[in-house]
Amino acid sequence: MDRGRVPSRAVALAAVVSLLSFGSSAAAAPLEGLSATARRTSVPSASPASADATSALWTLPACTGDPLTTTLDPAAHWATVVLDPVHRLPEEWEPPDLVEVPPLGVSTDARVREFVLDPLLAMHAAAVAAGAPFDVVSGYRSQGHQDWVYHNATETPTAPDEPRMVAPPGHSEHQLGTTVDVVDPADVSLTAAFATTPAGRWIAEHAASFGFVVSYPEGAEDESCYGWEPWHLRYVGVDAASDIAGSGLAPRAFLLRAAATTAS
Ligand code: DAL
Ligand code: ZN
Repeated sequence: MDRGRVPSRAVALAAVVSLLSFGSSAAAAPLEGLSATARRTSVPSASPASADATSALWTLPACTGDPLTTTLDPAAHWATVVLDPVHRLPEEWEPPDLVEVPPLGVSTDARVREFVLDPLLAMHAAAVAAGAPFDVVSGYRSQGHQDWVYHNATETPTAPDEPRMVAPPGHSEHQLGTTVDVVDPADVSLTAAFATTPAGRWIAEHAASFGFVVSYPEGAEDESCYGWEPWHLRYVGVDAASDIAGSGLAPRAFLLRAAATTAS
């Protein structure tokens, strides 16, 4: 199968996610101090020689297996925690400092962690200035909200070779509070067609310079574990986004490789 193609069923599922993303209702936790690592976060790496040796031996972990709960504190390690169908957050984990995203057009009540708001609004202002406005239709999703999304989406049968488009509860980057789904105001559905809209083209070119990465790039399902989602942006900070873009790897593969290299 062409890994870059999003089958119609998957597109429909993505549209379901879009619809279900409106109206996230989990209560925000009390404000706490912000991580000092906010803004410019570069993924750590070992010395060049050992990093090169480890990278050469490194094998991309599979997208299936028994769930593994991260041992990192997700509040502090928001840029490097890997979430995929195997790796998950601690049960019912919530970010400490969620804030509302102000209305940008069609947006509803999306929330993000406090330090994500300024980069998001700066990216939005730049997109508007470039004539490519976008809107945010989904931000933080609690584990319970993701459970609802997941079970509603997966009740629709799919063909065996169709890519995953929805994370199991506890495994979604939306639960980190650093991730948003964006749309073009002229087409608010979450489909691969977003990539061809003015907003989608602008996002693909400029999001990294504001610290956001497309977690699930086109043709990278083996690395990302999900089908192409040009609308799903995770904030990792400007330096890490630049590192990831320069690597040619999907963010998941980059972060797993960096973690393996650092650990060795
Ligand atoms: N659509 C992404 C994979 C999620 O459900 O978090
Ligand atoms: Zn998303």
